[in-house]
Amino acid sequence: MKLFIDTANVDQVAEIASWGVLDGVTTNPSLVAKEEGADFKETVTKMCGLVNEVSAQITATEFEEMKKQADEYSSWHKNVVVKVPMTVEGLKTLNYCSSKGIHTNTTLVFSVPQAVMAAKSGATMISPFVGRLDDLGMDGMELIQDIRTAWDHYNFDTQILVASVRNTEHVHRAATIGAHIATIPYKVFQELPQHDLTDKGLKKFMEDWESVQNR
Ligand code: E4P
Repeated sequence: MKLFIDTANVDQVAEIASWGVLDGVTTNPSLVAKEEGADFKETVTKMCGLVNEVSAQITATEFEEMKKQADEYSSWHKNVVVKVPMTVEGLKTLNYCSSKGIHTNTTLVFSVPQAVMAAKSGATMISPFVGRLDDLGMDGMELIQDIRTAWDHYNFDTQILVASVRNTEHVHRAATIGAHIATIPYKVFQELPQHDLTDKGLKKFMEDWESVQNR
């Protein structure tokens, strides 16, 4: 399973990469907007020096312009993954990128038919947004389970990337369902190594070791 961080902040990428567990980064226009003053190309290029896969989202909506942006972004660094919205123009763009060997991530996937269409268009990854479904009172992880079931019937190479992660339970379920990737916000990433019993257990080990030293 690959772990990505969902951020446009280079320092956050560097910190989690230093743990030795980080495979990639996903950015989106909203995350980029939070990093005031940062240059997008420079940010993406720096991140590409830290991890192997960095999703950079194109903002054009018509195929011809989307193609140009995909060509431009993919020329920045070999680790750039072009992030393409799940629209009809997006499907054409995914197909174009696939024919050119450009890696892609299909964003804003909310249904199995969308996932199947993106896979058939040659997408490298699909990003179903689980948190946004949870926000509507649904169970977003059910969509991941359904996509996984569909994938098990066919030979799609497209990787299932669990996006819009809100908590550690999403990561737990992504792993047990068999999603290929989860993209995780910085705050949730910091919670992943934690467990109360680990803290309690370590405290007891240290106390007992101290008593051994004082013999
Ligand atoms: C994924 O690539 C998206 O950037 C992200 O996971 C969206 O998450 P949100 O629903 O918390 O904005």
